[in-house]
Amino acid sequence: MSSGLKGIKTVRDFEMAGKTVFLRLDLNVPLDGTKITDETRITASLPTINYCLEKGAKLILASHLGRPKSAKDKQFSLEPVAKRLTELLSRDVVLMEEPSSEGVKHILYGNMKNEIILLENLRFDEGETENKNDLALYWASYSDIYINDAFGASHRAHASIHAFPEIMKNKGIGFLIEKEIKMLDSLTDNPKRPYIAILGGAKISDKIEVIEKLIDIVDGFVIGGAMAYTFLKAKGVPVGKSLVEADKVKYAKEMIQRMEARNKTMLLPVDHIVSTEFGNVENKKVTTSAVIEDNYMGLDIGPQTIKNYTAALSEAATVFWNGPMGVFENKAFCEGTFAVAKALAESKGVKIVGGGDSAAAAEASGFADKMTHISTGGGASLEYLQGEKLPGLEILRPRKQSEVMP
Ligand code: 3PG
Repeated sequence: MSSGLKGIKTVRDFEMAGKTVFLRLDLNVPLDGTKITDETRITASLPTINYCLEKGAKLILASHLGRPKSAKDKQFSLEPVAKRLTELLSRDVVLMEEPSSEGVKHILYGNMKNEIILLENLRFDEGETENKNDLALYWASYSDIYINDAFGASHRAHASIHAFPEIMKNKGIGFLIEKEIKMLDSLTDNPKRPYIAILGGAKISDKIEVIEKLIDIVDGFVIGGAMAYTFLKAKGVPVGKSLVEADKVKYAKEMIQRMEARNKTMLLPVDHIVSTEFGNVENKKVTTSAVIEDNYMGLDIGPQTIKNYTAALSEAATVFWNGPMGVFENKAFCEGTFAVAKALAESKGVKIVGGGDSAAAAEASGFADKMTHISTGGGASLEYLQGEKLPGLEILRPRKQSEVMP
């Protein structure tokens, strides 16, 4: 068992037949109206759901969706998720109107047969985000076992993630969290070498903690996205109107020096796809060097940079990818990001993709199924990787010696 899971029970450790299992999932999927546009988090939850059902549990599923202000924000209803789960599980998934609905008890203590209960968006009750005990006590009044499989929400000290397991004796994790932690631990516990971290996205400031964690572990960084312009600026390269974090130029300069002192690789773009305005396709052109003219801004990495990055990635035995190389949502500026995804797809190494934008980029590239692991957590995976303790995991560790597993 990897160190991050030490002492934590899993679904396998409980006798579930006839027991009421409260399964906290992260079913926070993107919606276009009522249409689910990416169901990864639903399908990733199925192994634990199916396991509990096979073991004869009475199942209560719970999740948040989006960030509703109140229960009146019906566009954040889990209804589309309940419908999709009903199809995927071939069982009725009954959506209980409110997260603390009395209806749950009626079903549980009545004739629960094949149906599964899904609590309506937990954030419809403000007690959820406030980590309120009364919600926890209410759920505890009908639950025998608490399972957290909501990796993407485990960095939140919310009632269903923290206050509730705090008062439960029988608690553990599902298969999704188990896999996430094992995969993320493999990036810091003896990773296979060479080990490259690809960092992209808009800001260095969002990645400083993860850079600090990885700088002594990785053999090299590959940098793309707007954050690359701050690094180039730190090297004295003109970057035109590109996005630069002025207050991070000093940090970028020091980081380049620290990598040099460690004799490690630090790849930066040597050419770019630029335009005069953000997203402007008409004036799009390729630069001939890392220099960007005054009235242009960088929006993607260029063809020579793609070659350099592909070559480096083809030799890597471990790759962690967090952040796109350019504005990949726009077809005119997606090539760099998709080329990196292709390079990873063709590599024989372990390739782990951080959640959020990078997961969406891997998906959009068509190479998602070629990755070793794509995290279902954006913020949670970064926080875990940078060494922070996730409240949703910590609360599941035994506190008394008598609770320690043999
Ligand atoms: C996510 O989408 O990263 C998780 O579901 C957590 O959502 P939150 O950032 O709204 O807490």
